[in-house]
Amino acid sequence: MNDHATALEEKIRANTARLGTIGLGYVGLPLSVEFAAAGLTVTGFDLAEDKVEAVNAGRSYIKDVAGDRVAALVGQGRLRATTDFEGLRSCDAVIICVPTPLGKTRDPDLSMVVEAARSIAERLRPGQLVVLESTTYPGTTEELILPLLTEGGMEAGEGFFLAFSPERVDPGNARFNTRNTPKIIGGVTPTCARVARALYAKAIETVIPVSSTRAAEMVKLLENTFRSVNIGLVNEVALMCDRLGVDVWEVIDAAASKPFGFMPFYPGPGLGGHCIPIDPLYLSWKLKTLNYRARFIELAGEVNSEMPEYVCERVAGALNEREKSVKGSTVLVLGVSYKRDVDDVRESPALDILRLLENRGARVGYNDPNVPQLQWNGATLESQDLLPAVRKADVVVIVTDHSAYRYAEIVDAARVVVDTRNATKGIQSPKVIKL
Ligand SMILES: NC(=O)c1ccc[n+]([C@@H]2O[C@H](COP(=O)([O-])OP(=O)(O)OC[C@H]3O[C@@H](n4cnc5c(N)ncnc54)[C@H](O)[C@@H]3O)[C@@H](O)[C@H]2O)c1
Repeated sequence: MNDHATALEEKIRANTARLGTIGLGYVGLPLSVEFAAAGLTVTGFDLAEDKVEAVNAGRSYIKDVAGDRVAALVGQGRLRATTDFEGLRSCDAVIICVPTPLGKTRDPDLSMVVEAARSIAERLRPGQLVVLESTTYPGTTEELILPLLTEGGMEAGEGFFLAFSPERVDPGNARFNTRNTPKIIGGVTPTCARVARALYAKAIETVIPVSSTRAAEMVKLLENTFRSVNIGLVNEVALMCDRLGVDVWEVIDAAASKPFGFMPFYPGPGLGGHCIPIDPLYLSWKLKTLNYRARFIELAGEVNSEMPEYVCERVAGALNEREKSVKGSTVLVLGVSYKRDVDDVRESPALDILRLLENRGARVGYNDPNVPQLQWNGATLESQDLLPAVRKADVVVIVTDHSAYRYAEIVDAARVVVDTRNATKGIQSPKVIKL
């Protein structure tokens, strides 16, 4: 029995453990709030002063996190934020939730993870637990983080503890949140896994240990590759159905009546968000270093990334039917966030669609109830007033099917609607063109 491990478990149990979270974004803020609500004292560390100020002022900037929850926890002294990383010294556990984007060459960019790990390594003291939550390729925790943390001479599983636990949060999901989404944990050693499990069990309803950090890293990539590949498949089925003159939405709905062996995925304008378009590339990159080509990932990536172009073709076809060209036409995009009811525009296919249409000479504009302004092409676009903009547009493209939209009203006001999400299901109108 490791004394440090036992002492940390006792602190967690007694609510005297201090937790640090590095990166207060879509993942880090909800996680910090959940742990603070469970009784720990949480400090969020971020480089972004505006986020730190917002948290300390009791404000939330993440749609799924209620502002009054943040305010109450800050008021009780259980949650605070800082840009001063010296405070990491006094933390008993530190969770890293910084971004893991792709670099210019579309290879993994782990610079922020490394920077965060260094900021811990410089201050690491005996008995601390470090957990990486950022999505990354299998091997990262052991190959990249472990060497940094052992530079001072302490051993993982003895002097300090190291684990990987992928974040699986689904922004905008009303049913599953940080607390009730089961958490996977893999430790560098069994003691590391044991301590990490004790920490997460404090705030998360179900904790599922796996045998290694590598397995835990792979779990997340399997989940997101599964989504990417199935979306790729169904996008290709949509292209097939178009040629066959069959309604792909009707086919999927009917297939989904099968109570076993089928899970519906839906076509759309392309992949978006911080996860599905990026994470599989972390896996294929790692496999490339092992002389293996991840063929499903490549193919799905190809099909999915061609969807914005396909949407533009449908827009051009719709205009052509009305004896108009894309050049000079007014096109209104409805919904620019990457999925329904969120305000996140990262990697959103709407950005590609706007760009492709503008390149063809269209006058583009957008409406999104969740995104009042959009930084795009070096300029700031404003969300236009919905119905006046719909009336003015030569064609309206539904890219993201927010639940706030009243689709019958939109179809009524529009000249023609290209619907990439089946948002107009049940509305019989010759004005609607579906993907
Ligand atoms: N957003 C999601 O839905 C989601 C879901 C599951 C997993 N993930 C993964 O979680 C990780 C974080 O994603 P996110 O969406 O929360 O990112 P985010 O961009 O919303 O937030 C990251 C935060 O980290 C901060 N940061 C960057 N470098 C830092 C450093 N060195 N020290 C301190 N703070 C730093 C940024 O200022 C930012 O506030 C990524 O690996 C992502 O793939 C995200």
